[in-house]
Amino acid sequence: MFKHFIIISSTFVLLLANEPISPIPQTVKYNQAKALLGKRLFYDTLLSKDNTVACVVCHNLSSGGADARKVSQGVYGRLGNIQSPTVYNARYNFKQFWNGRANNLKEQAKEALENPNEHDMNPQLIEQRLNASTSYKKLFYKVYHTKKITFNETIDAISEFEKALITPNAKFDKYLRGESSLNHQEKDGYILFKQYGCITCHNGINIGGNSFQKMGTFFPYKTKASYPDRAEILKNKKYHNVFKVPTLRNIALTSPYFHDGSSKTLLQAVKKMAYYNLGIDIPDDDAQKIVAFLKTLTGEKPKIVEAP
Ligand code: HEC
Ligand code: HEC
Repeated sequence: MFKHFIIISSTFVLLLANEPISPIPQTVKYNQAKALLGKRLFYDTLLSKDNTVACVVCHNLSSGGADARKVSQGVYGRLGNIQSPTVYNARYNFKQFWNGRANNLKEQAKEALENPNEHDMNPQLIEQRLNASTSYKKLFYKVYHTKKITFNETIDAISEFEKALITPNAKFDKYLRGESSLNHQEKDGYILFKQYGCITCHNGINIGGNSFQKMGTFFPYKTKASYPDRAEILKNKKYHNVFKVPTLRNIALTSPYFHDGSSKTLLQAVKKMAYYNLGIDIPDDDAQKIVAFLKTLTGEKPKIVEAP
């Protein structure tokens, strides 16, 4: 009887160890002082040319870290050409941006600040504005021990805040750790997610974010969006419509879906994915189950976001 139990439990552990998705750690290391300064910068419109835009405007931390609009609106009401993805768990992406043109969070933040359709700033102007603020002078001095605030420190603090933006303890992560169970619908959804092959592109800690793949591996995908794909980045036509596979964490909170924001509901997104990237029309019933599974990927907001 005892021996039997050992065998069952070790197979159970082995099964979890072989899961293609791994949980977000419950805590991560980051520099608290830098991150808190970065948080303030993330919310501050001072970092935008016309003082109307902050990172948080297009990355709403109360609703999934993304933008509910199809395309974001930057300074002077300028519209972008692509849907804003979530900043939550971005630290786990192997590259940043839909087309992966930034290698890390610092490169990404630099571009967001300089992009004419987002903050439209330059390093000199940012340094000028921050150095003119006595409260920022004090804060930067406390954290970086410098008398003159630099652009690099600004980027450093913002990216440190982003490192803290993880969403642990999703129902699915608790299930992976053996702390909680999924209901039938959710469990079936996870099995279908693997059986249909969604898992070949959406896997790992971020359930995506770790490879470039074509949108439309089975049927050519047409979009009105004028956004540069990997083909334009690499100057190679072979990579037409290739993008970074997005994370599916907190996906229930980040409608609309796809780089062109073309699907409003998760059900539509799942059916579209199955059609374009697996070449199948999946029955509504199966798609609903997959949606139920996807809803278990909503994690907890990190404490640093809740704190005043
Ligand atoms: C005007 C809206 C807007 C503002 C302001 C903005 N972003 Fe973004 N952000 C976007 C859009 C749109 C994208 C996608 C662009 C792309 O992929 O080419 C994006 C992409 C990102 C990504 C990449 C995520 C991924 O999965 O690839 C991160 C990280 C990010 N932004 C952080 C920031 C930070 C930090 C700031 C402030 C310094 C900021 N953003 C300001 C709209 C905005
Ligand atoms: C061949 C790789 C591949 C397969 C297989 C695949 N996906 Fe995707 N998935 C992608 C890529 C690439 C994108 C981004 C496409 C775009 O925005 O144009 C994406 C986007 C998504 C999105 C939208 C994410 C967002 O933030 O907007 C969802 C939801 C999704 N996939 C779910 C699924 C499901 C469910 C399946 C299985 C039925 C699946 N995917 C199969 C590569 C894949």
